[in-house]
Amino acid sequence: MNPEVRYTSEEEKLFEEIRNGRTFDKGDELPPIYKKHLMNLLWMQGDSEYAGSLGYMPWIENAPTLMEKVLVAQIVKDEMRHAQVVYKILDDLGEDTLTHVKNKDLGFKLDDDLAQIGFQRIKDDFRVNIFYYNITHWTDFILFNFLMDRAAGHQLEDTLESSYIPWKIGLSGIYKEEIMHVAHGDKWIKKLTVDPSDKAFLQERLNLWWPRVMNVFGNARGSSNTIYVNLGLKKRTNAEVRDSFVKEIKTITNEYGLTIPEYRQDEQTI
Ligand SMILES: [Fe+2]
Ligand SMILES: [Fe+2]
Repeated sequence: MNPEVRYTSEEEKLFEEIRNGRTFDKGDELPPIYKKHLMNLLWMQGDSEYAGSLGYMPWIENAPTLMEKVLVAQIVKDEMRHAQVVYKILDDLGEDTLTHVKNKDLGFKLDDDLAQIGFQRIKDDFRVNIFYYNITHWTDFILFNFLMDRAAGHQLEDTLESSYIPWKIGLSGIYKEEIMHVAHGDKWIKKLTVDPSDKAFLQERLNLWWPRVMNVFGNARGSSNTIYVNLGLKKRTNAEVRDSFVKEIKTITNEYGLTIPEYRQDEQTI
């Protein structure tokens, strides 16, 4: 909670109306506080989907079997389609997403395989900062499905009842595809825990990716995201979504004898 935030009586009235079921559709005039926060979320999602798609691309070539190449190509296509759906909503709100993707380096990845950037922004785009890390092993690709697509799924699930109708409609298809990506991750986590050396490497990479994915849920010491709940753009706070994500992950890792490392929010190496 951020006790310093004060809202005008007009804004408080808007929150109340949204709590009582008010929604907004394409072409509606949006209250400034609503438009600002809606666009924050859309830009963050659009750039994450786009950067995610580009980051997965090399794994079409590097996937271990022909069938896996097809599955990775499908996932790359899904993510680019998600970006297009979200960018279209932004364009309808008056933004110019094509110029944005031309000018921003959304394919950029950090060179340092072991980097921990905490909550830092590396470029002036809007992606969730886990998309700055490079996927250097097939095991990382699988962990991305297992951890990040699942985290995204939990976050999107929260937006399925969004007060912004075009986003709500777009998300229903996106959500279904994210669930498929998570299932791909789960299938491979099981496979990679059969052979002891695969399993040891999986544990090593899980330790590396865990703080990166936990940071996606935001800084618990920073301001709260209750404003998004007040605007009907989310149902739960980041902390609540994170807790349900962690619970689900732990059920699976316990089953396969993997350990979830201690999470320290201030872990940062560069
Ligand atoms: Fe996606
Ligand atoms: Fe995905």
